[in-house]
Amino acid sequence: MFAKVSTAHLEGIEPVLVEVEVNISNMGLPSFTVVGLAETSIKESRERVKSALKNLGFNIFAKPITINLAPADFKKEGTHYDLPISIGLLAASGFLNAEMDDTFFIGEVSLDGKLRGVKGVLPFTIFAKENGFKKIIVPKENINEAAIIDGIEIYGFDSLDKVLAFLAGEMDERPIKKDITELLIHENEYHDFEDVKGQFAVKRAAEIAAAGMHNLLMIGSPGSGKTMIAKRIPSILPEMTLEEIIETTKIHSVAGRLINKNQIVSKRPFIAPHHTASDVSIIGGGRDAKPGAVSLAHNGILFCDELLEFKKSVLEVLRQPLEDRVVTVSRANRTVTYPANFMFVAACNPCPCGYLGDNRRECVCTQAQIQRYRAKLSGPLMDRIDIQVQVSSIDIKDLSKLQPGESSENIRKRVEVARKIQMERFKEEGILYNSQMNEKQIRKYCRLDESSLKLMEQAVTKLGLSARAYSKILKVARTIADLEESKDLLSKHILEAIQYRILDKENL
Ligand SMILES: Nc1ncnc2c1ncn2[C@@H]1O[C@H](COP(=O)(O)OP(=O)(O)O)[C@@H](O)[C@H]1O
Ligand SMILES: [Mg+2]
Ligand SMILES: [Zn+2]
Repeated sequence: MFAKVSTAHLEGIEPVLVEVEVNISNMGLPSFTVVGLAETSIKESRERVKSALKNLGFNIFAKPITINLAPADFKKEGTHYDLPISIGLLAASGFLNAEMDDTFFIGEVSLDGKLRGVKGVLPFTIFAKENGFKKIIVPKENINEAAIIDGIEIYGFDSLDKVLAFLAGEMDERPIKKDITELLIHENEYHDFEDVKGQFAVKRAAEIAAAGMHNLLMIGSPGSGKTMIAKRIPSILPEMTLEEIIETTKIHSVAGRLINKNQIVSKRPFIAPHHTASDVSIIGGGRDAKPGAVSLAHNGILFCDELLEFKKSVLEVLRQPLEDRVVTVSRANRTVTYPANFMFVAACNPCPCGYLGDNRRECVCTQAQIQRYRAKLSGPLMDRIDIQVQVSSIDIKDLSKLQPGESSENIRKRVEVARKIQMERFKEEGILYNSQMNEKQIRKYCRLDESSLKLMEQAVTKLGLSARAYSKILKVARTIADLEESKDLLSKHILEAIQYRILDKENL
């Protein structure tokens, strides 16, 4: 007998429809074959399904069984085929008699018949809905991820026999619908800027960076507070929109980070890879073409602490996502594209010993060492950083005398104002933030009056700014003006933006 069950293959974060076709012959020796370009993980699926069905008392393996994953022109992988394969087997062997054309299935099955969480449930759910399925059945562990989607009935079960009972109409189960606000994490789990005393200039730079989603580099000696400040930037970023939440959750779902967590990504991610990280962990890829740190940071922050300690190859692969806001991951026979639109925050020491320009300790580096070090701080990666600030250390004695800083909540209110202005400005442009403006948009939205133009000319001759640096100053100045709700770009905005090009100046 024959049965067909619908599921999908995951290509990056985009599912592609797969029909699990099960054929059980009445004649021949017992066999159990899976065809249709199934990779190792699906061959293992066969063993799990066999054991689970046997343990549930279904004796169907005495006949020749063929499973075809159609279409057969791309490789299938992952554990989520267990459930559709099990259901197909039960239907083809006559143990299940139910109308399933409008139902979409995903889930891993354990040897004893329990349903286990899988990757990609959110993209699968959106896909099922968009392809006209009325129902989707997912592991209970993944229910929250799925349940934020409207317009499709979502059912979560923790075991195969419950799915069976439900399909056979023996169990009264209501579709699960969750209001996204129920799933948002309300308590503030971010660190607060209040903890950062003094450092007004750096905090100001962080606020501007957050307001325009500008990439930020902090240069300062050890203990000056760079890491502390970076960790607090998520707390002043604008709230994520529903669209951003779904987009970011999709990526985390595909990366397998939501299994067993039963939640969605409702706060901007802060991803801080260690400087020993490999290219693959940063950019994505590997055997299962997983999203890397740059994609996990999508709509949030990628923080590279001790930037110059990272491998050269890692710094190089960062260039593509910083430029294109997507990343292409290749594997043996195909490429997958993931979104990778993040705010890049980095920190490093001013020199090899770390104490150049610090008044607490003497720098012991030679001029040549400093020059070599500075040379690393130039080039294509640095070209993608809009704001560079120096972080000076504060003496411990003075630190205790200082008042607590302004709260993140207050700062974020100003950031939100600037964001609204940008959303309005760019509503026809297909971008969201000043940092994303192209040359044409810069000309349109960063018009200079005569005195600002003069100022820029002086800056160019004095600092020898490149064309790229010139555009960056204009974009940052636009954000500074937006924070003040100033329509015009004034000289003072330009002057401040020039301050954030410390690497273009001769000395730190
Ligand atoms: N401005 C500051 N206000 C309050 N504490 C500070 C400040 N600067 C540094 N500290 C303290 O010093 C510690 C070390 O700072 P850290 O951010 O690790 O420095 P860096 O990353 O620049 O080496 C912080 O965890 C914090 O306790
Ligand atoms: Mg640090
Ligand atoms: Zn030094």
